[in-house]
Amino acid sequence: MSEEYILSMKKWCEEILESYDASAEKLERRVASEELESWQNDLIQFKDQLLDTISFDKKELYERANSLYLQLEDFFNEEDETEDLEMSRVHQQSLSVPIGAHTLPPLPYNYNALEPYIEREIMRLHHDKHHKSYVDGLNKAEKEMQKARKTNDFSLIKHWEREAAFNGAGHYLHTIFWNIMSPKGGGKPTGMLLQEINQTFGSFENFKKHFSEAAKSVEAVGWTILVWAPRSRRLEILQAEKHQNLSQWDVIPLLVLDVWEHAYYLQYKNERGKYVDNWWNVVNWKEVESRLQQAKQLLWEPF
Ligand SMILES: [Fe+2]
Repeated sequence: MSEEYILSMKKWCEEILESYDASAEKLERRVASEELESWQNDLIQFKDQLLDTISFDKKELYERANSLYLQLEDFFNEEDETEDLEMSRVHQQSLSVPIGAHTLPPLPYNYNALEPYIEREIMRLHHDKHHKSYVDGLNKAEKEMQKARKTNDFSLIKHWEREAAFNGAGHYLHTIFWNIMSPKGGGKPTGMLLQEINQTFGSFENFKKHFSEAAKSVEAVGWTILVWAPRSRRLEILQAEKHQNLSQWDVIPLLVLDVWEHAYYLQYKNERGKYVDNWWNVVNWKEVESRLQQAKQLLWEPF
């Protein structure tokens, strides 16, 4: 058992207790006091037992921490007092997309909203034609794979898996892409996102330089993606060539830049660099931060 791991667990306990303290009043109005007290005792006991490291294995520590964390999350999630737990479970389930039933999300603004940086016609084609074809392709691939499972005929599975990766990555990345841009975008990130950027890249300028250089040098077609890696608990900048290749499946895209020609060619011709430089004027940092906030809720065993 590494000492570092124990120390990080202790720090985590302290952070959880702090966030509990900050919202104690609010929680006391919503959650029964015995329940809160027993949770707090469990956490303190867990923290104290971390000193006695011989009696724990890493997996057990992680599982206890995770269950304490999930319980706290439950306390915070009970926003709507009228909605009982069964209702919220049913609600969660109804939010999932049935197999082969993905739909094209609407653009969160008008086609011309990002002008002069990205022209109306690009947005219209990019969203209505290109993104739509990813949605259709993904639905087709999912249904074909479902059919393969039913008939037990997997002779074409390699093809449909590729189609699912290509169209699925296209659908999910474009869905993020529309939302991480905004007519009110640009400027600099703030808050926790800026903190994490400074922590990893030294400064926002360093990060922007690295991200732009990575985008300008993506070979042929693809994306540049800022990710939060739950495993290393750090940000990273990645290139995704042809978007179904070189994916790190264990990460969550936060900020994505489409550098396929269809994203800029009508307006910028072969000057991808100019498009990349101008694109920063429409980045919706609030959305990126909110994605980071949600991604950070994940608690995986660090290695
Ligand atoms: Fe695209």
